[in-house]
Amino acid sequence: MSNKAKIVTILKQATEPVSGEQLAETVGVSRTMIWKYIQSLIEEGYRIEAVKKKGYVLQEMSSKISQHALESYLKTNTFARNLHTLDSCSSTQKVANELILNGQAPHGLLVVSDLQTEGKGRLNRPWASTEGKGLWTTWVVRPDLLPHEAPPITLVVALALAVAIERVTSVKVDIKWPNDLLIDGYKTAGILTELQATPDKIEAILIGIGINVLQTAEDFADPLTARATSLQLACDHPINRTELLAEIALELEKAIEKYELQGFRPFMSEWEKRSSMIGEKVTATTVRETIQGIALGINEHGALLVDTGEGVRALFSGDVTL
Ligand code: BTN
Repeated sequence: MSNKAKIVTILKQATEPVSGEQLAETVGVSRTMIWKYIQSLIEEGYRIEAVKKKGYVLQEMSSKISQHALESYLKTNTFARNLHTLDSCSSTQKVANELILNGQAPHGLLVVSDLQTEGKGRLNRPWASTEGKGLWTTWVVRPDLLPHEAPPITLVVALALAVAIERVTSVKVDIKWPNDLLIDGYKTAGILTELQATPDKIEAILIGIGINVLQTAEDFADPLTARATSLQLACDHPINRTELLAEIALELEKAIEKYELQGFRPFMSEWEKRSSMIGEKVTATTVRETIQGIALGINEHGALLVDTGEGVRALFSGDVTL
């Protein structure tokens, strides 16, 4: 853990002011260095009060996502332990891909950017990635799986995200097959999974996750985002993006490990409980056709089962509306 992360962690846990001397001793640097670190944290947007003759009190974390802030929350073994934080990029998927090509993308790598100029969604749709308002992330995972075992990963990720978001916000999140998270029917997050594999081996999976966190209603005035909402609009307390990111890292790590060991079956019933469409009449558009029917559930491969009245169809990809 970096020295700044140590200082943030100590101050975050403290119930009373922590003196410069105590910090210096615990972190293992001089008091002058502690003072410099504190000034630099304040410049980054942390609110730290110096209480005379007592020490420092952390009043508010910075809203910026930084390595040391994330480290102070992380409870994972590998996820987000390798981290690329960027102020701006075209797309975190592109950055992650370049890191893979350069051999700099171990399992669990996280690329996070405050702004994306060319954020992309499924089916090459644009993805609005406003500066400082969301979590625009790509995770590189290298699971011990065969290529045909990759498709349910999107559903496993959706479930992990829903759990993490609910823990931090207490807002109920539904899953819309295959890759959307909804609050009261409005989209708050999407997942873009890209597989890099040879016929018999997964090289890497790029899991792109976009979450609308801090947007206000005005941010959704554009037709591109009219069916969208943010977590903050639904949550009655301030949301810290870094804390949320650390919870997501933990849930993703646990879920992907579990999927590697046990497959998709243990996820199926919880996934169906959270689905906004099971038992409902749906219209599904795939690359080949549009079908209508009742959504029955999912199978062990993550396919959506739709009863068309003339038989049950298993859909592996597509857009589904109620
Ligand atoms: C979708 O719902 O269509 C998927 C949206 C995925 C958006 C994320 S934001 C971070 C990552 N970088 C991108 O360009 N896209 C994904």
